[in-house]
Amino acid sequence: MTESLILTEQRGTIFEIVLNRPDKRNAINMPLYEQFAAAVTQASRAAGVRAVLVRGAGKVFSAGIDVSSFLTLPQKYGDNWTQHMRTITHDFQAVLTQLERLELPTIALLHGYCLGLAMELALACDIRIAAEGCLLGLPETRLGIIPDVGGSTRLTRLIGPGRAKELIFTGRQIDAAWAERWGLVNCVVPASDLLVKGEELAAEIAQAAPLAVGMAKRVVDGLADIDRGLMLEGWAQSHLMASADFQEGVQAFLMRRPAEFKGR
Ligand code: COA
Repeated sequence: MTESLILTEQRGTIFEIVLNRPDKRNAINMPLYEQFAAAVTQASRAAGVRAVLVRGAGKVFSAGIDVSSFLTLPQKYGDNWTQHMRTITHDFQAVLTQLERLELPTIALLHGYCLGLAMELALACDIRIAAEGCLLGLPETRLGIIPDVGGSTRLTRLIGPGRAKELIFTGRQIDAAWAERWGLVNCVVPASDLLVKGEELAAEIAQAAPLAVGMAKRVVDGLADIDRGLMLEGWAQSHLMASADFQEGVQAFLMRRPAEFKGR
């Protein structure tokens, strides 16, 4: 039987998607990501849904990509996988683009940690609510790569280039209060209120006309040229994934030691 790394539930007008790999801090491996994509499709087809909530089971929203899944790339894309980086990036981006293009409001409920690919996932949602103390960040540059699953593009759209660059250049984690000041999350609530707050917001949105809400989303999202950003991210990452620094970044992470980057 396939392990349920993603749980889904429809409660009235709410469709909930739960990242469910709590022992690994909901680190996103390939099977989890594939199940997440299937859940997004399920949400798009479910009758009567007016909002989608995305949250994480256990201590944290998610620690981002499962770093060991970089080691499985040759299995999926062949030994010369670095030659196929733009395809790989496209496959990853397609899932979050599908999430972003759902004609339903999506609300990410963040607690504990929201890092890397998890943050890119949250950025592809319409609204983010964070629990007090939640730490958010895009640590990719500390591994020798960039956020290439829409994170560079969507973060810049959301908080502007200066702040986006500071967060991406440093790979720093910021807390929920800081994230709220920078417009990265819409509001911060006590952890015990996170789900209730998400449900209340979903219920409030459900009072508005669904076609109008769906169109409003299309219009607001259509104001930015996301596709160009995604293409640039793919181009940059295809160079970085072939670098010695990236190999070093992954090895250092897995061996829990500081990376020694050489700039090549
Ligand atoms: N990739 C792979 N495994 C991960 C992971 C990741 N991104 N994040 C957590 N895990 C695993 C740990 O290896 C550990 O596995 P083990 O029990 O088999 O040893 C388990 O999840 C629990 O992690 P741990 O670090 O003990 O939990 P914590 O609550 O003390 O710390 C975090 C939580 C999120 C601070 C910490 O796990 C972390 O920093 N993770 C990496 C974050 C990251 O850099 N992600 C982005 C990469 S671009």
